[in-house]
Amino acid sequence: MLIFSKIADLQGYLSPLKSNNQTIGFVPTMGALHKGHLSLINASKEVCSLTVCSIFVNPTQFNDPKDLERYPRTPEKDINMLESVGCDVLFMPGVEEMYPGGSKKELFDFGYLDKILEGAFRPGHFSGVAQVVKRLFEIVKPDKAFFGSKDYQQVMIVKALVKQMNAPIEIVPCPILREPDGLAMSSRNILLSPSERAIASNVPKIMESAVKLITNTGIDAAKFFVQNEVANIPDCRYDYFEVCDADTLEPCKNLEGRKTYVALIALFVGRIRLIDNLVFSL
Ligand code: PAJ
Repeated sequence: MLIFSKIADLQGYLSPLKSNNQTIGFVPTMGALHKGHLSLINASKEVCSLTVCSIFVNPTQFNDPKDLERYPRTPEKDINMLESVGCDVLFMPGVEEMYPGGSKKELFDFGYLDKILEGAFRPGHFSGVAQVVKRLFEIVKPDKAFFGSKDYQQVMIVKALVKQMNAPIEIVPCPILREPDGLAMSSRNILLSPSERAIASNVPKIMESAVKLITNTGIDAAKFFVQNEVANIPDCRYDYFEVCDADTLEPCKNLEGRKTYVALIALFVGRIRLIDNLVFSL
């Protein structure tokens, strides 16, 4: 695997390949890699001739400086993991390289999409995501970019960004990889203490039960159930549980039949914030 930290070096390597009609697949990450990230690399390798991964802990998408400070960083392990799945290129820039004029936040407007759910609880988060993804897309110029559906709203934001940029990049959503007990894999999971990790395993179970309740009894009953369940777990604080149209992410009050829906949750287990979602149809 080739590793670049400078934009000019990466582009010097990629541009002759691009003019040679090679398809470039791109997997942006913030490192502390796990099997979920590797599944995106594998998805890219299946359909692209060259796969580029980036590792950059983007300061502009953290609205809590403490969250940025304690974000896990495991570069050596990450490099080994990427090599084990045959990733071709790793781009690992420093903050100066990505934001030469300083990491000032650029503002984006995605209508209601960046104001609900994660956008409501983490103000400015999606502008930060859009800022870094736009910059990375302009640097790598991929044909396809692979994103995990674990960050469901992020996938929709990135699709909207590509439209705004008018860039010929296909956004490929990939399924959520889970631990054997159902917990969605996340870089933040390694920050959980053993007791918090045990508590976190309730999240996918609550989601499964909530989705059953939605289809049997309705959205309000499910919201009430989730709120109560989370309140009964020690050390848990709940940000939101919402049921949305899976295509538009507009929050739903009632089910209208035949549509595909997504139930989304965000909660704190101790100091660690977890998100998860479940897509379902009636
Ligand atoms: P990060 O949290 O490192 O995630 C990188 C990619 O891995 C994202 O597309 C995310 O959805 C995906 N991913 C994370 N957990 C996953 C799982 N359990 N199964 C499948 N895919 C999973 O998301 C970011 O970084 C950043 O916001 C980024 C897009 C890199 C911009 O900074």
